[in-house]
Amino acid sequence: MPETTMLRFVQILPQVSPRGDFLLQDLPGSGRRIDVLCRDLAACFEWGPKSWSKSNLEMVAVIGTEKILTFRNPQNQAPHSEVGWALVVRESLRGRPPSYVHVSDGTLGEVVRHLIQDEDAKLWVLDESGASLSDCQSCFHTTQNSFMLGDHRGFDSQSLAVISQFDIQRISLGKKSYLSSHALAAIISEFERKVR
Ligand SMILES: C[S@@+](CC[C@H](N)C(=O)[O-])C[C@H]1O[C@@H](n2cnc3c(N)ncnc32)[C@H](O)[C@@H]1O
Repeated sequence: MPETTMLRFVQILPQVSPRGDFLLQDLPGSGRRIDVLCRDLAACFEWGPKSWSKSNLEMVAVIGTEKILTFRNPQNQAPHSEVGWALVVRESLRGRPPSYVHVSDGTLGEVVRHLIQDEDAKLWVLDESGASLSDCQSCFHTTQNSFMLGDHRGFDSQSLAVISQFDIQRISLGKKSYLSSHALAAIISEFERKVR
């Protein structure tokens, strides 16, 4: 596997408001499950990678149906708690992102189109009912690997329509349903094992 292999995670959050109007003391309720993204970010840029370079990780959040946040290698600016990440997300949605967050308008369909445009790019959906990751050899031979994650409810009808429109393959880590942050960490760990 080339050292430049990228792992990208796309967290779909159809219920979250793009205005950044949630309370830090009530992320699941007022944030309509923005806590899912905060845990993903901690898994991606803090506790998830052991040997995988954080500069080869990217987190994309599709907020509601219109806002895209892209997080790239925060280096020493990474916060150290779920609430710390919530503050970064809130400031970004309010138009004050730190340098490692890119904010744009866009839909899930546009994100998908962008992620699969390069010849060496592949996108999968992480889904309990998909094909086993161990059977997916193509995952480990692609240099741009993106994995879509559902929220606490899985995928809503609009996301399912995009998945079907682009015929995105489903990959499973087993029948048990994990937190999306743990599914994300498990993928990083699988890729780490392949290069060891
Ligand atoms: C908490 S789970 C979704 C909830 C679950 N589908 C349900 O309705 O009970 C959040 C997301 O993590 C990912 N995920 C969790 N467990 C997984 C597994 N065993 N294999 C693949 N992806 C998984 C999927 O993307 C899923 O949509």
